[in-house]
Amino acid sequence: MLTVAWKNNSVVLIDQTKLPNKLVYVSCKDYKEVADMIRKLVVRGAPAIGVTAAFGLALAAQQSKAKTLLDLMRDLDSAFKVLQSTRPTAVNLFWALERVIGKGMRAKTVQEAKRAVLNEALKMAEEDIETNRKIGAHGLKLLKDGDNVLTHCNAGSLATVAYGTALGVIRAARESGKRLSVIATETRPVMQGSRLTAFELLHDGIDVSLITDTAVGHMMAMGAINHVIVGADRVLHTGHVFNKIGTYQVAILANKHNVPFYVAAPLSTFDFESNPDDVIIEDRSVDEVVKVGKKRIAPKGVRIFNPAFDMTPPELITGIITQKGVLKPPFEKNLKALLG
Ligand code: MRU
Repeated sequence: MLTVAWKNNSVVLIDQTKLPNKLVYVSCKDYKEVADMIRKLVVRGAPAIGVTAAFGLALAAQQSKAKTLLDLMRDLDSAFKVLQSTRPTAVNLFWALERVIGKGMRAKTVQEAKRAVLNEALKMAEEDIETNRKIGAHGLKLLKDGDNVLTHCNAGSLATVAYGTALGVIRAARESGKRLSVIATETRPVMQGSRLTAFELLHDGIDVSLITDTAVGHMMAMGAINHVIVGADRVLHTGHVFNKIGTYQVAILANKHNVPFYVAAPLSTFDFESNPDDVIIEDRSVDEVVKVGKKRIAPKGVRIFNPAFDMTPPELITGIITQKGVLKPPFEKNLKALLG
């Protein structure tokens, strides 16, 4: 079961807005549809968004009627702009689009460029699974038999092509014979924890319990959690981590209760240029806050803030699990060493 795939010249996605009640797939033949799917959270999670956008560009190449390389690059550039405007925080989106269009730019003919763009997107989809397995192999060493691991949002199979980053570590630990229990926060307001994390872990037979976001402090104070592992939408070279709203407060609570707080992320999620103030935190629709399902749960006229991400500073992070190993503080210095 792949979250994102290229089949019969279309991009096929699991419709995550329908989970956990229905497991249905949507198929897109137009890059504008792909952009719409990213915007509406049909596909979400930093690595999955990146690969989907890459396939979106491959569709744009396929759709183009251009006869010259210059015209094809103009078409790809328009698609690039539409796709990159879908979501602002996860850096994988921009990384993937740059990587794919770069391949097109180096081609010598229209046909070669079309092929190169698709091949690069397919390669990225394969690499994503391999990378997650490597993250899992490094991360599993941090866990021991019987651990209770809290995760926030969904950094699983559904947030990647398959296997997951934070949940990839859990899967790898499980495959190595360690028995673990996962505690998933529901992750208001879009409920990625209850709808997606609980769904995919139950689907794979991994022990999972669901708690409200507000129960984290209590559970830690009771000694019911001995590790936190979350994913990331953007990791700065300084070690600042942008992830789903609520991650920061989980990190503060983990620090207060001496619970190790790990972030699992591929190097495609790293941003080597931005500083904390440069990163745009996506502001999403107020409807996500004032409604539960179709039912309104707040009075009309109340002011709403709905930031979708927050920033966890490096001093609250025990380590960042990447495909090349586990980065420990000081992150900026150790990142340079890790990358050689
Ligand atoms: O708004 P979303 O659902 O796209 O946010 C997803 C997250 O914040 C995930 O934790 C993050 O992308 C890591 S996914 C491996």
